[in-house]
Amino acid sequence: MSGDARKAAEGLAYSSGFGNEHSSEAVPGALPEGRNSPQRAPLGLYAEQLSGTAFTEPRAHNRRSWLYRIRPSAAHPAFTRTGNGALRTAPFNQTVPDPNRLRWNPLPEPEPGTDFLKGLWTLGGNGDVAQRSGMAVHLYHANASMTRVFSDADGELLIVPERGGLLLRTEFGLLHAEPGHVVLIPRGVRFRVELLDETARGYVCENYGAPFRLPDLGPIGANGLANARDFHAPVAAYEDVDGPVEVVNKFCGNLWTATYDHSPLDVVAWHGNYVPYVYDLRRFNVIGTISYDHPDPSIFTVLTSPSDTPGLAGVDFVVFAPRWLVGEDTFRPPYFHRNVMSEYMGLIEGAYDAKAEGFVPGGGSLHNMMSAHGPDRETFDRASAAELKPQKIDDGLAFMFETRWPVTLTPQAAQADHLQRAYDDVWQGLERHFGAR
Ligand SMILES: [Fe+2]
Repeated sequence: MSGDARKAAEGLAYSSGFGNEHSSEAVPGALPEGRNSPQRAPLGLYAEQLSGTAFTEPRAHNRRSWLYRIRPSAAHPAFTRTGNGALRTAPFNQTVPDPNRLRWNPLPEPEPGTDFLKGLWTLGGNGDVAQRSGMAVHLYHANASMTRVFSDADGELLIVPERGGLLLRTEFGLLHAEPGHVVLIPRGVRFRVELLDETARGYVCENYGAPFRLPDLGPIGANGLANARDFHAPVAAYEDVDGPVEVVNKFCGNLWTATYDHSPLDVVAWHGNYVPYVYDLRRFNVIGTISYDHPDPSIFTVLTSPSDTPGLAGVDFVVFAPRWLVGEDTFRPPYFHRNVMSEYMGLIEGAYDAKAEGFVPGGGSLHNMMSAHGPDRETFDRASAAELKPQKIDDGLAFMFETRWPVTLTPQAAQADHLQRAYDDVWQGLERHFGAR
């Protein structure tokens, strides 16, 4: 909203590469060389490790960063409970899991003064936050910049803006995200969201499980899908601010607040591979058929959070990005299917090629485990008769949070005015053709 935020967001420098060992210092000499915790850290800073995986996890998946800060994170007063607003957390057991196909319109307008945190509204989820498994689907609609600082001990946050630019001030530095970008905030990393436009709206996947990583590529080879170098980490930028700063901590489903006497975004230098990222979904290298049929939509996976079972994700983040369709003798929109995985879909812009109408930017659909879905009648009729020349799908950007466990709704999602109660109708009128002459 403020011109200052817009100015700060423009022309930010980044450090590229997903999972790399990044390092950055906002003041020359702030980063110690050759050791992580020297007897005295440079410039009078405090050294602190932030571990995102257990110390002993395999090296390929181990995530940690070293922060060199004005005050150690431990220097804070006690947290006390504060209201959770519309934010809810696993276990989700206040409604009966629903086998029906469900779809929502966008969230209604927020009341004035709603910041990103207050604007979070939980649709549902699965798993158990204390067991660090499962995920939650949130939406947000905000009209004010945060002045407080937030961190989420329960999971990492994958933020998917649909409307309005964001400037994220994190412990590691600044990130700028516009609709079409996604931001990954690791579990426990403190940040503040400032709005670059009058309102901001979008989606959030809160992942309680293993940190998101790039999927393996198998026979695809060394390149393709989301390329590691297109993930941008911040460069160090710190706030040297004395005075009261509210810090809100989400812990096992509840929000806790404390008023610090300084800003906790006071990291002057850091190094490590546990860092926030911004990624432009339009950089996604879309791979598909050049003969016939479709690969399964797992070919569109941007990031995956594996579970304990190989190949079975706690949650995948999948994008339906602009692409060419060239399949011969192929029904080209997404086919009819039933899936053991549960699918929450959202739309960032434009239209989605399996639905003629009703699936709108800012809205979303939920197709839980084994629910039958696919193209609506109008799309089926059109695609069945279409001339199969090469066709560019370039008017939409949709995504999916796909999870191994059914998504159970919050009561507010099950009873929402913006739930489309006639969604089933899109599959009415699919005529019998068998035996027709
Ligand atoms: Fe599906």
